[in-house]
Amino acid sequence: MKWHVLRPLWVAIGLIGAILVARVFLVPDDFGVHGRNFTYGYHRLGNIQEWKDFPVKYQGREACIECHDENVEALNSSTHTAVECENCHGPAIGHPDDVELLAIDTTRDLCLRCHAFLEYPNSDRAELISIVDRRHRRRKECIACHDPHDPTESTR
Ligand code: HEC
Ligand code: HEC
Ligand code: HEC
Ligand code: HEC
Repeated sequence: MKWHVLRPLWVAIGLIGAILVARVFLVPDDFGVHGRNFTYGYHRLGNIQEWKDFPVKYQGREACIECHDENVEALNSSTHTAVECENCHGPAIGHPDDVELLAIDTTRDLCLRCHAFLEYPNSDRAELISIVDRRHRRRKECIACHDPHDPTESTR
């Protein structure tokens, strides 16, 4: 074979060799040591424990009943029942030890996140009731007229 063919070939072989050597040092010891449960065994055993230790940020509304039963009852029997408390109030881990943690957002943006009418085809047929921000009583906050925990009551 000609040199201009062989030379890149040697470079390629050299590179593959270097990668194989580097692999011995870089791949963690617990990689692929747990049988064939994972495709090709390409999985690091320690990663399972790492995810088990991963701190959960949300509590779910059952955790709120103890102290905020009125809010939970209102929400459960409202059209907002599908919306989680922590969707509006933020992840509650650490609450109530740190009460300041959950700031209350009273802006229109909180609600428009879900209820803003989007200028897309079929948007008017979406299941989530949407409003056009600038045409829907824009001088006031939404919660001046809608209870966030029971929004159907439109006059509070
Ligand atoms: C062990 C009792 C307890 C539990 C459980 C609890 N809270 Fe609270 N929460 C409090 C207390 C005490 C306050 C401060 C007084 C108040 O505003 O009622 C508070 C205040 C709040 C506030 C108002 C914060 C502010 O800035 O004024 C929100 C929002 C809130 N809690 C949401 C939740 C949510 C959501 C959950 C469930 C994930 C929850 N809480 C679970 C005791 C609790
Ligand atoms: C759709 C958004 C939304 C959801 C869902 C929601 N909240 Fe609220 N929450 C608000 C807003 C906005 C306020 C402020 C209301 C005000 O100032 O009139 C508030 C106020 C509060 C307060 C303080 C005033 C009060 O009513 O006691 C507490 C406590 C609270 N929420 C707890 C909860 C709990 C517990 C849940 C779940 C069962 C929940 N919230 C679900 C938006 C929400
Ligand atoms: C995470 C998404 C989400 C957020 C945030 C949210 N909503 Fe809703 N809202 C819904 C869903 C889902 C429904 C029930 C389905 C529907 O009727 O479109 C609903 C229903 C409503 C309704 C119709 C009630 C009825 O019975 O006709 C009103 C009014 C409303 N929300 C107001 C608000 C207000 C005010 C806020 C802010 C405090 C808010 N929403 C925040 C998802 C959301
Ligand atoms: C000044 C009072 C007032 C304010 C502020 C207000 N609304 Fe309303 N809203 C109403 C009334 C009254 C109705 C029912 C009659 C109607 O549809 O006009 C309503 C209806 C709705 C509906 C149901 C629409 C439908 O087609 O059934 C949604 C969703 C809604 N509002 C969301 C919001 C959101 C989100 C905000 C804040 C960005 C907001 N509203 C601010 C008074 C208000």
